[in-house]
Amino acid sequence: MKSTTVVLMAALGLTLTGIVGCAAGENSELASDPAVASDPAVASDPAVASDPAVASDPAITVETVAEHATSGDCWTIINGNVYDLTQWISGHPGGSGPIESMCGVDATTAFTNQHNGQGAPEEKLASFKIGILG
Ligand code: HEM
Repeated sequence: MKSTTVVLMAALGLTLTGIVGCAAGENSELASDPAVASDPAVASDPAVASDPAVASDPAITVETVAEHATSGDCWTIINGNVYDLTQWISGHPGGSGPIESMCGVDATTAFTNQHNGQGAPEEKLASFKIGILG
């Protein structure tokens, strides 16, 4: 009778150790889950870090654009984008005057009034883009 009690207690002890051991094992797995702790997609998303579209679109302030307000150094703002029109002053089919008046300022209205929806001016304009207003 006594030896049976000892065997039963030993078996119970082993069972408890097993249950506690399993629980501890699961917890430690959660605590250091490598998929959460160092997810490379979150830590350094290469799609954002080296996106050429983002890299070539620096934010430029209105103050900086205002510093480029001459016919020899002409930046302008149209619809929130910044363009360097210096080379276009002598190339514009509509003359240099309209482009010179855009230098250093937001010329959205002037451009839109004249060329809104026209393919050639819109395409030409896109080729001069140097950044976005920021
Ligand atoms: C960056 C801004 C501008 C760009 C990229 C641009 C581009 C162009 C282009 C490509 C043409 C030739 C269109 C064609 O033949 O189909 C053109 C013509 C013309 N543009 Fe502009 N333009 C700009 C701003 C302006 C502004 C602000 C004005 C006037 C306020 C203006 C007045 C004209 C006029 C009058 C013509 C017609 C010239 C002609 O046919 O004899 N442009 N422009």
